[in-house]
Amino acid sequence: MASLGHDVVGIDVDEGKVADLTAGAAPFFEPGLAELLEEGVRSGRLRFAADPAAAAGAEVHFLAVGTPQSASGPAADLRFVDAAIDGLLPHLRPGAVVAGKSTVPVGTAARLARRIAQTGATLAWNPEFLREGWAVHDTLRPDRLVVGAEDTPQGAAAVDLLRRVYAAAIDAGAPFLVTDLATAELVKGAANAFLATKISFINAMAEIAEAAGADVTLLAEALGHDSRIGRRYLGSGIGFGGGCLPKDIRAFAARAQELGRGEAVGFLHEVDAINLRRRDRAVRLVVDALGGLVFGRRIAVLGAAFKPFSDDVRDSPALEVAVRLRGLGADVVVTDPAAIENARARHPQLGDEALRDADAVVVVTEWDEYRRELHPQHAGGLVRGRIVIDGRNCLDADAWRAAGWTYHGMGRR
Ligand code: UGA
Repeated sequence: MASLGHDVVGIDVDEGKVADLTAGAAPFFEPGLAELLEEGVRSGRLRFAADPAAAAGAEVHFLAVGTPQSASGPAADLRFVDAAIDGLLPHLRPGAVVAGKSTVPVGTAARLARRIAQTGATLAWNPEFLREGWAVHDTLRPDRLVVGAEDTPQGAAAVDLLRRVYAAAIDAGAPFLVTDLATAELVKGAANAFLATKISFINAMAEIAEAAGADVTLLAEALGHDSRIGRRYLGSGIGFGGGCLPKDIRAFAARAQELGRGEAVGFLHEVDAINLRRRDRAVRLVVDALGGLVFGRRIAVLGAAFKPFSDDVRDSPALEVAVRLRGLGADVVVTDPAAIENARARHPQLGDEALRDADAVVVVTEWDEYRRELHPQHAGGLVRGRIVIDGRNCLDADAWRAAGWTYHGMGRR
């Protein structure tokens, strides 16, 4: 927002983060973010504060706090959303817009609209679709912008204001879709449910391919050429993780249940189950590849982040596979180009001297460092056993086999 010329104040309850950001340091790894942050802080258009009073007088307040899974069940925990509104209430001026970006159960926006009504500010819902690792690109060049508002003059004014805020993206061709509040909330939940379903679909096909002696990567390629299907999100392997898709499909199903329509999204439980089975399958492949016993064997795990270009290890399938192998008594060494510090903070017992003397190598995050830059011949010189399990179906199987490795993909011959 600051790079587009807006005057921005970022507010967070975590004073440590506020201090780091004020000094121009991003609290996580995200390609392109550090440069934008530095430029914003230097220009004076981007400031940070812990006190919500710093938001007083703003024209637009973006609400972008997390909505994690509740400790007690599948539903979303809305504590941070409500706390942020509590903090904002005394500082909202009539005519201001509160634009919700957090992923919330449908119906939340209407409730928040009632909460802020007495201030004369207007609530709009403007869901966020960015991907980690591509956050800067997805923000500046979104596939679409969705704004939900009530069908009132105030709602229309809020939509107009947001249209001006996003003028640069709209001019660059982003479709700007105006909906009611509930539809805007649903677009987000439905988009993530669809993406998760697509990934689990191809992973279900991987299970079949494995039993039938077929190759799921060739299948995905052939399916993907059908323009009605498309190749993206047909990447098979150990499945989806991270801070969004897993908890979002559970929260979506929980909300549908509350609305009396649980059966409409019953398949999301299946999507979740297929996804979690991939982690079991990866562990089983490693165990089988090592002759049925991993106790005391040295296993190099390449990848900790839930996806490349990210240091995020929240619900990371990669890290879960590593931790489960260790639970079976293996001597596991994890490496990752970006996420190793975060991985170590969660599992301090995992080290980072990876390939040397390994009995098996397990690739669980498809970083270019492993996909392209790790040469099977070179890796073969470091390890004790030339066994590679490709948990992301991202390696050139023929090249690894040619270098004397036993290659195991997921759903591949
Ligand atoms: C996801 C959505 O893609 C974003 O549109 C959304 O805004 C975001 O959640 C959110 O709700 O905030 P993200 O979690 O950053 O974004 O990452 P993705 O690139 O979607 O990947 C999610 C997981 O699916 C990763 O673990 C990835 O490895 C896995 N994946 C992705 C596959 O297993 N196969 C694929 O073909 C694609």
